[in-house]
Amino acid sequence: MHDGPAALTAARRASGAAPAHEGCGLEWRGGEPWSALYDDRWFSADSGPDETGHVFLRANRLAGRFAALAGDACFTIGETGFGTGLNFLCAWRLFLGCAPPAARLRFCSVERHPLPAEAIPAALARWPEFAAPAALLAGAWAGARPGPNRWAFDGGRIELLVAIDDVQAALAGWPAAQVDAWFLDGFAPARNPRMWSAAVALAIARASRPGASFATYTAAGWVRRNLAAAGFAVRREPGFGRKRQMSAGELPCPAPDAPGAPGTPGTPG
Ligand SMILES: C[S@@+](CC[C@H](N)C(=O)[O-])C[C@H]1O[C@@H](n2cnc3c(N)ncnc32)[C@H](O)[C@@H]1O
Repeated sequence: MHDGPAALTAARRASGAAPAHEGCGLEWRGGEPWSALYDDRWFSADSGPDETGHVFLRANRLAGRFAALAGDACFTIGETGFGTGLNFLCAWRLFLGCAPPAARLRFCSVERHPLPAEAIPAALARWPEFAAPAALLAGAWAGARPGPNRWAFDGGRIELLVAIDDVQAALAGWPAAQVDAWFLDGFAPARNPRMWSAAVALAIARASRPGASFATYTAAGWVRRNLAAAGFAVRREPGFGRKRQMSAGELPCPAPDAPGAPGTPGTPG
């Protein structure tokens, strides 16, 4: 088991690393954000958007699913760990490129240790294509408060909801059966087991629509078992870069003639 956050922070300070931003554990190492709380990175330093593309967008098949949306449908992404917002910005960009013009994207995330707003454009500065949306996001993020937060972009077509709270408390407050695809992004499981617990997996399943998908960079066996026990069919896929494997999967859809399936007798509503 890894040392606790306080011990880690102390160790970082003792090692002469730059002081952490109070509360979120942010350190800058060679211009890259680094978490002194969890001794892990927020994203891949040289290829963050490519990693997001491979792990979260591709494995959740989002380009095709966005393109297939009915005219004014709303697609909901759930995320564990908002961080710098890089995943959100990548999903936003893909949605604008693929979805029908009246379709909407709702991106729901949780964040226990919010970064200061000015860290968002600083962390993403090496990707100039995100400069404008990162500035918009940072402007909104400056007003983030503990508990639920909501912002709208692109005339309300893109909705961002972030609970500033611990993952377990935040997910307990989410409505059931809303999320279409999950980005599980809570630092390495060995360093932050709380983000990958059996209780969190069950809360994720509860908040998911039938057929919802998930993707994550980890292939840790106990994380895969927690997600399988919560009802997901879990598979291994090739990982990004030097990572051999990652995980992805889906909740089953009820068979069309199963009790409770849409359009069958006994369907509520
Ligand atoms: C790998 S980073 C997420 C990167 C992010 N998705 C992005 O696009 O930049 C993991 C995030 O999970 C957050 N986190 C860690 N433990 C948490 C917890 N128990 N509840 C909620 N958020 C947590 C961290 O503060 C960190 O921002």
